[in-house]
Amino acid sequence: MRVLVVGSGGREHALVWKLSQSPEVTKLFCAPGNGGIGELAELIDLGAEDIEGLAEFAENKDIDLTVVGPEMTLAKGVVDLFEKRGLRIFGPTKAASRLESSKAFAKNLMKKHHIPTAQFAVFDDPQAARAYVRQLGAPIVVKADGLCGGKGTIVASTLSEALGAVDLLMEDRIFKQAGERVVVEERLVGEEASFLVVTDGVTALPLLPAQDHKRLLDGDKGPNTGGMGAYAPAPVVDAALAAQVMDQIIMPTLRAMAAEGLAFKGVLYAGLMLTGDGPKVLEYNVRFGDPELQAILPLLSSDLMPILDDAVEGRLSTAQCRWEAGSCVCVVLASGGYPGDFPIGKEIHGLDQGKGRSGLLVFHAGTKQDKARFVSWGGRVLNVVGTGPDLEGALRRVYDAVGAIRFDGMAYRKDIGFRALKKPVTR
Ligand code: AMP
Ligand code: GLY
Repeated sequence: MRVLVVGSGGREHALVWKLSQSPEVTKLFCAPGNGGIGELAELIDLGAEDIEGLAEFAENKDIDLTVVGPEMTLAKGVVDLFEKRGLRIFGPTKAASRLESSKAFAKNLMKKHHIPTAQFAVFDDPQAARAYVRQLGAPIVVKADGLCGGKGTIVASTLSEALGAVDLLMEDRIFKQAGERVVVEERLVGEEASFLVVTDGVTALPLLPAQDHKRLLDGDKGPNTGGMGAYAPAPVVDAALAAQVMDQIIMPTLRAMAAEGLAFKGVLYAGLMLTGDGPKVLEYNVRFGDPELQAILPLLSSDLMPILDDAVEGRLSTAQCRWEAGSCVCVVLASGGYPGDFPIGKEIHGLDQGKGRSGLLVFHAGTKQDKARFVSWGGRVLNVVGTGPDLEGALRRVYDAVGAIRFDGMAYRKDIGFRALKKPVTR
């Protein structure tokens, strides 16, 4: 099979790495890819959001399956366009992608179909939003309806912060149309987990539960980022809780989407808050998580290619995912200044020292190859990934390797996995 992967981050490097091991894959392309992906796939100079260009390419190059990383590509309708042209693609349609691209749509669906989530209301009018915020009081959460690259949610601990969030989103329009409508919801308390399934719309194959670390600094301090690290499996989601999430959240969501005429194919990712009242949905994503996937795929012993293929063909009921024992940790190395402004073009040293070491992988995110060297080319630069017989072992391996890599301004968290270190793994 000739496969095209769309995207340019660590998630896409992990996908390309895993697919490159499949005996079924004869040729891999990635658009636009990054420095590291270029070692495993032919890079195509097309933006991830150029859906017309991607369809043209897939048609001309006889691509058998296209796998999409980023949500924006899906929200633009890449799946609808490919399917109209008779091209095979893994992911949900534009209308089904609204589970992620419209928080109001997702919340209304959950309410209608009794899927556990925070109490909420949706507003198009800033005055009404402010009145509701005052009525509920702080702490409270204000969310832009549309896609904001993970930055559209403000968890406000004071009333003035919440009112300020309404102003920023609805009056100042800092995220343009994405913030014209807002969801205001109760703040949930608990531990978070990322629960991803691959689905053909009817059957769902769960991946290992993972936990992301969204804040920049150790101890979950500092601003929100795209994710500074992840690990899998997350022991906080034991087998009983995973079964509960499947029964109360994942399967009801798939049935709800089908009932709305929006059968969902691809990856359904439920961002969960594990509250005292059971797991509740914070948000849905309609694609693989980044950096969660980097910590999940190294433990997948099954070939990924037939799983994606079966999802597209609607025959997942006969597929299965087999997992290695042990744990996997991903630590993100970011540019100094990220998630604000940061410099690029910094030479990366020490990348070769980890190469070929057992249980260790480096997935590139924002890098570019410049002759024989790699330079930083984005906010999140590298994902250092280690597996081990347990979380402690994986952490030792990963942080050893991190210590050998350096570039000017390199920043990373030293406490990935801290929540799980106190818990026994049961799966
Ligand atoms: P979202 O944009 O919905 O994914 O939210 C981003 C982050 O904001 C989540 O990962 C949580 O840390 C936090 N968050 C979102 N909704 C809530 C909520 N209702 N209560 C507490 N924290 C929340
Ligand atoms: N790790 C969070 C996300 O992929 O949205």
